[in-house]
Amino acid sequence: MSSSPINVLLLGSGGREHALAWKMRQSPRLGELWLEQGANAGLAPLGQICPYPVEAKHLFHLERWLDAQAISLVVVGPEAPLAAGIVDLLSRPHRRVFGPCKAGAQLEADKAFSKQLMRQAAIPTAEGRTFRTVEQAVRFVLNRDEPLVVKAAGLCAGKGVIVCDDREQALTAIERIMEKREFGAAGASVVIEERLTGQELSVLALVDGQTIWVLDPCQDHKQVFEGDHGPNTGGMGAYCPTPLADEATMQVVYRDVLVPTVDALKREGIVYRGVLYAGVMITPGGPKVLEFNCRFGDPETQPLMARLQGDLIDILWRCAGGELDGAEIAFDPRVACCVVVCAGGYPGEYQRGLPISGLDDGAASAGDSVHMFHAGTARAEDGSIVTNGGRVCGVTALAPTLREAQQLANRTAERVQFPGAHFRRDIGHRALSSSASRNS
Ligand code: AMP
Ligand code: GLY
Repeated sequence: MSSSPINVLLLGSGGREHALAWKMRQSPRLGELWLEQGANAGLAPLGQICPYPVEAKHLFHLERWLDAQAISLVVVGPEAPLAAGIVDLLSRPHRRVFGPCKAGAQLEADKAFSKQLMRQAAIPTAEGRTFRTVEQAVRFVLNRDEPLVVKAAGLCAGKGVIVCDDREQALTAIERIMEKREFGAAGASVVIEERLTGQELSVLALVDGQTIWVLDPCQDHKQVFEGDHGPNTGGMGAYCPTPLADEATMQVVYRDVLVPTVDALKREGIVYRGVLYAGVMITPGGPKVLEFNCRFGDPETQPLMARLQGDLIDILWRCAGGELDGAEIAFDPRVACCVVVCAGGYPGEYQRGLPISGLDDGAASAGDSVHMFHAGTARAEDGSIVTNGGRVCGVTALAPTLREAQQLANRTAERVQFPGAHFRRDIGHRALSSSASRNS
């Protein structure tokens, strides 16, 4: 890596990007940090705002602007620009772009593609099939007795998955996804698969095309209410590392999932660079893949960045350039727990523009043990901070134990107030109850 400062453009405007930008700012290698328009109120002060929307139709101006600012690293946070091929469009010999190419991003953007790839490479996953017509999907369900999961095949922010208890629910799910198109065009086809049981992990790895560096495993909490009840969300909180993935399990995930996936992509002519995120269920028959994502998780990135001790710019630069084997990656031994404070009504309809109090004081009083990562926040004209999304902020606490980290995050989250604010107080409950049962 050149020792001169690296000017960076970070794409994305949410909680994950606030955590990435916060970590990038600690890097001695960072020159100027540029952000996309629409950055949340915590992220925006960390950089300058790019004058052009980062879209293919503005490519001509964007490229000239990237060159004029001498931006040599573009880091892509969300999946949508990756699926649209932003990496293919912006990569140049003098400019590295962190994230997979369009063909690689299909792993997340097209569940039918990823199911087929897993089947061909014998990667353990739920048994499932893809259907393009309602009739075929219904016929399949009518011939099944076991509980099923029905998924819109396209991208829909983690919400197009319906976990069903019985046949009736599966038929309703097909109707919602394919006929009513509740998740839009993503529901043109569905993947229907067996419902797995077990502990769910988020295993994120950095991949540079060749080298795979597995980050400490995280556990997300998808359902909106405590005790894992209610509809799925983008993620209500996450902690890292999780003791539910022991060394042996992580070895199996590496050997049976990550390595064969990168190899299978290579056989398709795809050099995969960026984050390979496997959502894995630890079933009685071993780890099985629920889904792949092609980017950092949200909220998993918040606890990961809170613990990362390496130089993030150096790591991303190397990863994007195929030089990951020289990176130094280490983690703070403490546990990080991120609790997401949400708007009333989320993941359904919710209001925006509500004034928020307590964003700063809680985190400040806890010193460097708590980080307040903004997500759906914006600065109003009068300078105050208001809500601007369903997941408003991710309070991320570090402590020697998960219990302490959870308590500190909860205490701090309580101070964040706006009408309808809610959060789960039980982030990490599965690990806590399994350690309680081990200790009893
Ligand atoms: P996905 O977007 O495919 O990860 O699905 C979202 C969530 O639905 C996952 O995090 C799981 O909690 C649940 N889920 C997805 N697929 C399955 C499955 N085959 N069995 C049980 N739960 C699943
Ligand atoms: N935390 C789930 C996701 O990022 O998809």
